[in-house]
Amino acid sequence: MKSDLKTRIWPAGEAAVAAADGCLAEGGLIAFPTETVYGLGADAANAAAIARLYRAKGRPAFNPLIAHVADLAAARRIARFDTTAIRLAEAFWPGPLTLVLPKSENCAVADLATAGLDTVAIRVPAHPVALAILRAFGGPVVAPSANLSGHVSPTTAAHVHSDLAGRIDLIVDGGPVAVGVESSIVGCFDSPILLRPGGLPRGEIERVLGRALLAPPEDADQDSGQPLAPGMLASHYAPRTQVRLNADRIEPGEAVLAFGPGTLPGMECAVAIMNLSPRSNVDEAAANLFGYLRALDVKGARAIAVMPIPHHGLGEAINDRLRRAAVGRE
Ligand code: TXA
Ligand code: MG
Repeated sequence: MKSDLKTRIWPAGEAAVAAADGCLAEGGLIAFPTETVYGLGADAANAAAIARLYRAKGRPAFNPLIAHVADLAAARRIARFDTTAIRLAEAFWPGPLTLVLPKSENCAVADLATAGLDTVAIRVPAHPVALAILRAFGGPVVAPSANLSGHVSPTTAAHVHSDLAGRIDLIVDGGPVAVGVESSIVGCFDSPILLRPGGLPRGEIERVLGRALLAPPEDADQDSGQPLAPGMLASHYAPRTQVRLNADRIEPGEAVLAFGPGTLPGMECAVAIMNLSPRSNVDEAAANLFGYLRALDVKGARAIAVMPIPHHGLGEAINDRLRRAAVGRE
């Protein structure tokens, strides 16, 4: 696609929020910080703006988007909430939880954004800049992660700029994000299903539900048909360099994505080493994950060797993203 837009980068503040609001109203594309990752926003009711968004990201149009709103009242205008959905929304919004719900009768979100499904994914982000933009704009804003399709999600404005400069109108810079992995997605069907592990640990959701979340069916991960979470393509989060998981030694020419205080045989010859959390903290590791993958991706290593990472808390989302990164480039 042509890259001829002048992409402005503004520090977060009143002027940036007003510019973002104006841009959305004119059908423009704005990148803005949320607590999980930076989003690329467009007016959810404007199909032409959404078509530009898919084009800017190079994203397949069958991959539906999350509608971001300022509060539960706004969410209830676009989807039907049952008691389970209300309980989850009241417990976790604003926050890193996306709910997939039946569309309301007069749902303002364009069909192009929901890929023709009769459900819509919604979340209320817990970031003051995101909330200020949503309140100023008033309507729902669809926002996938602000990266080129297939790249890892951006956790700083600089990541957004390196992927999307020339393709979008405005980047609002609110500094590095706090969580670092995308929201957890729960499908509120007969039994709630964890469609994507993410920034809200499974255990916290299950505590509020009082029961276990189901797993999506096996074939929900395929690049075909209408899977439950069509965005979960196997290669969704891939860097260009090959990724090797659960390394117990480092081969010559490899870069290392480390975790914890330990070392591995061969590590002294690594091309580069970045440690997600020397003190073995999974929250810290999540916040560093995508930035470190981007940094190691440009070291010219033959592979990025990843040390084992525990599965508890945000570890489930980290391991999910790393698995996708590992199958990305065969
Ligand atoms: O943290 C996040 O969720 C970030 C920030 C920007 O909010 N957004 C994000 O959006 O990760 P995106 O587009 O990268 O991922 C959206 C996911 C995809 O896996 C998509 O398939 C799924 O949500 N999704 C959207 N609508 C859906 C629906 N109606 N049913 C099932 N899955 C849906
Ligand atoms: Mg994404």
